[in-house]
Amino acid sequence: INQGNGVKGLSEMGLKALPKQYIQPLEERMCMTNIIAQESIPIIDMSNWEDPQVARSICDAASKWGFFQIVNHAVPVEVLENVKEATYSFFGLPAEEKNKYSKEHSSSNNVRFGTSFSPQAEKALEWKDYLSMFYVSEEEASAFWPPVCKEQVLDYMRKSEVVIKQLLQVLMKGLNVNEIDATKESLLMGSTRTNLNYYPICPNPELTVGVGRHSDVSTLTILLQDEIGGLFVRGNQGDNWIHVPPIKGSLVINVGDALQILSNGRYRSVEHRVVANGSKNRISVPIFVNPRPGDMIGPLPELVESGERPIYKQVLYSDYVKHFFRKAHDGKKTVEFAE
Ligand code: SIN
Ligand code: FE2
Repeated sequence: INQGNGVKGLSEMGLKALPKQYIQPLEERMCMTNIIAQESIPIIDMSNWEDPQVARSICDAASKWGFFQIVNHAVPVEVLENVKEATYSFFGLPAEEKNKYSKEHSSSNNVRFGTSFSPQAEKALEWKDYLSMFYVSEEEASAFWPPVCKEQVLDYMRKSEVVIKQLLQVLMKGLNVNEIDATKESLLMGSTRTNLNYYPICPNPELTVGVGRHSDVSTLTILLQDEIGGLFVRGNQGDNWIHVPPIKGSLVINVGDALQILSNGRYRSVEHRVVANGSKNRISVPIFVNPRPGDMIGPLPELVESGERPIYKQVLYSDYVKHFFRKAHDGKKTVEFAE
């Protein structure tokens, strides 16, 4: 039935009803009554990122919301438009072309085309296809990433690095960590993974999810979304969800578990989810900024030395990530692994 063309293939067959593997239990579906319309996550103008007031608003957003949007950042709008276009080009390839990058066929472990999050672990599947690219070097990317999107993705990553460094510098200063030496640079941004996400039109969007509730395992995630919308973030009062409205040219920034752990809980990774859409295809392009797989992560020494009690133990980052992929999207559970 699937023909190896992911949920996009299912969507384009013109199904009248959602196949039952995708029907989510009631508690995982988005209940419209829990949406808070009056609240929104902060929008931060990065043109004066070094201004103490702007720096404070970044640190406050990272501790209170775990999510914010940035505007007037260093990534040119053409770069963002190009990577969106490249995403459509990749998913528009014939199934057999995309399947050259599937788990079974990919000639590199660092490139993976797939569908849903972790199909072996999920009781109900998610309505999403993706291409995931772990960055090792320009040469590796040149050799193995799909030609239809590699240049655009690499350009997006290069241009984003400026913003990532600005944000991490500000966030560290907020913890009284004034120097980012090589060890810290590895912990904060030692590796990156970029995903292209495709959420096709869904026959029964209310019965399933695009992505289930989770927090990211990154230090920071830089997310480019298109104009469709559908990303929701858990608000501060329990079971309420706040929409992240698309803003042209903006990037969504969120704190991941690794930064929550490194900051000893000062910055918070927050649960989020994506709804399925009954009338429009949606794409998004996150860059996950991570420690290196071989790094041990734990509360930064500066925080512990200043007398804070460490909330988390030291864990090997690759073990942390393995733990995340062994289970379905089940909320913010991975971080307990480090407690
Ligand atoms: C995710 O958090 O996994 C995806 C976010 C999005 O597509 O907006
Ligand atoms: Fe996420």
